[in-house]
Amino acid sequence: MFLLSAALSSCSGIQSALDPAGPEAEDVATLFYVMLVGGAAIWVGVVGTLFYATRVRREPHSERTAGWVILLCGAVGPVFILGALLTYAVWLLPNMRPWTAPGEEGGLRQIEVTGEQFWWRVRYLDASGGVLLETANEIIMPVGERVLFSLNAPDVIHSFWIPSLGGKMDVIPGRINRMALEASKAGVYRGVCAEFCGASHALMAFTVDVLEAEAFDAWLQQRLAADGSSGADGLGLFLRHGCGACHTIAGTQADGKIGPNLTALGARGSIAAGTLPNTQDNIARFIRSPEEIKPGVHMPSFAMLPEGDVETIAAYLKGLE
Ligand code: CUA
Repeated sequence: MFLLSAALSSCSGIQSALDPAGPEAEDVATLFYVMLVGGAAIWVGVVGTLFYATRVRREPHSERTAGWVILLCGAVGPVFILGALLTYAVWLLPNMRPWTAPGEEGGLRQIEVTGEQFWWRVRYLDASGGVLLETANEIIMPVGERVLFSLNAPDVIHSFWIPSLGGKMDVIPGRINRMALEASKAGVYRGVCAEFCGASHALMAFTVDVLEAEAFDAWLQQRLAADGSSGADGLGLFLRHGCGACHTIAGTQADGKIGPNLTALGARGSIAAGTLPNTQDNIARFIRSPEEIKPGVHMPSFAMLPEGDVETIAAYLKGLE
């Protein structure tokens, strides 16, 4: 009973391919159930035959019967069942991942996602392919609209996966993989890296916030107008200690491109790519010892900064919206 309830409870939630929130995820879930039923039928057939042969009719069978059993159960049956499942799976494909040539996706909203070590760089592109705005570890998208993701990585392979919205796609250095996803239900979902990429592979998640169209437009406008220039003390320390060499905060002199863009950081649900809840304490912890929270991260430790400075910077970052 416990196992059953544990198994069923893991089927729903913000990161489950069996709790679809988009057309592609629905196809994936349907395929899973069809495969499950097909697999169960084969299992019942095999175990039933075994039971029959060892418990019901235990006497030896003729060579002729044995030959028929091998032909039907060992060749014809599997070819028929596996052939049917394969045909069904291949039949689903064009619908799930319609093939479009690069440049032919006209009209779709474009989001460029870069797999970094170990976080996600997210850039919203305008119609001409220019960068409209950049954020990290969060994807905000409108409900009911196909969004085109173009995926790339500077160094190692990752895999971009939002189980609630669709299948995964590899993120490969040196090439751009494209994938269009649509969300049919507003809500907050969770995406992950699904390809082992290094020490913090498992600490590389992101939030997907699907908003109604008006709320999305409002978010976009608010985000385009975001300005981190208030909060003088914290910003001054942030710049003085060199944080701006790696991080950008819109409206300030901080325009580093190496690390995550921190504009409106306070509005994100989590920090360190889905690793910690977004609190001032956690931001301070990360500044002091990023390696402890995220092994292999490129950001150096700032444990040598005066304690008060770290707190002031963390308070400033938490206040950015
Ligand atoms: Cu990135 Cu695993």
